Amino acid sequence: PVEHTLAVIKPGVSQEQQNNIVSQIKEAGFSISQVKETQLTRDMAQMFYKEHKGKEFYDSLLDYMSRAPSVLMILSKENAVNEWRELMGPSDPEQARQCSPGSLRAQFAQSILENVVHGSSNIQHATDNIKFIFGDGDM
Ligand code: CMP
Repeated sequence: PVEHTLAVIKPGVSQEQQNNIVSQIKEAGFSISQVKETQLTRDMAQMFYKEHKGKEFYDSLLDYMSRAPSVLMILSKENAVNEWRELMGPSDPEQARQCSPGSLRAQFAQSILENVVHGSSNIQHATDNIKFIFGDGDM
């Protein structure tokens, strides 16, 4: 069955890198069902990352995510949640370069904070995040 996940190209990624990321997403066989460019507010970022509340990087994460526009996409494919996480690679670019050199974070991430892309961690988060960003409209 086709699964849907929320993918985000985070703030500060150049237009050229955004295009490159989108091409790699399509080459990997995902359909981009919806796309929207929005600057998240701090409140939206807080909703989005509520499971990280209290962590030492939480405030810098909220600043980062709300400082410029992001590209938010619904990616659709069989096993989309896990496959998108694989294409992104690990959060830490050092680790990504070691164990997943073809991944997007290995190619483009600056640091564990400024790591270029985000994806829902499981189906429940995917469903919740898609609803939060795109509303209840038909997919
Ligand atoms: P993401 O996959 O979007 O989910 C949580 C985000 O928090 C992560 O990417 C990074 O942007 C950030 N993050 C996770 N761990 C750390 C860390 N140890 N230091 C700084 N930022 C982090």
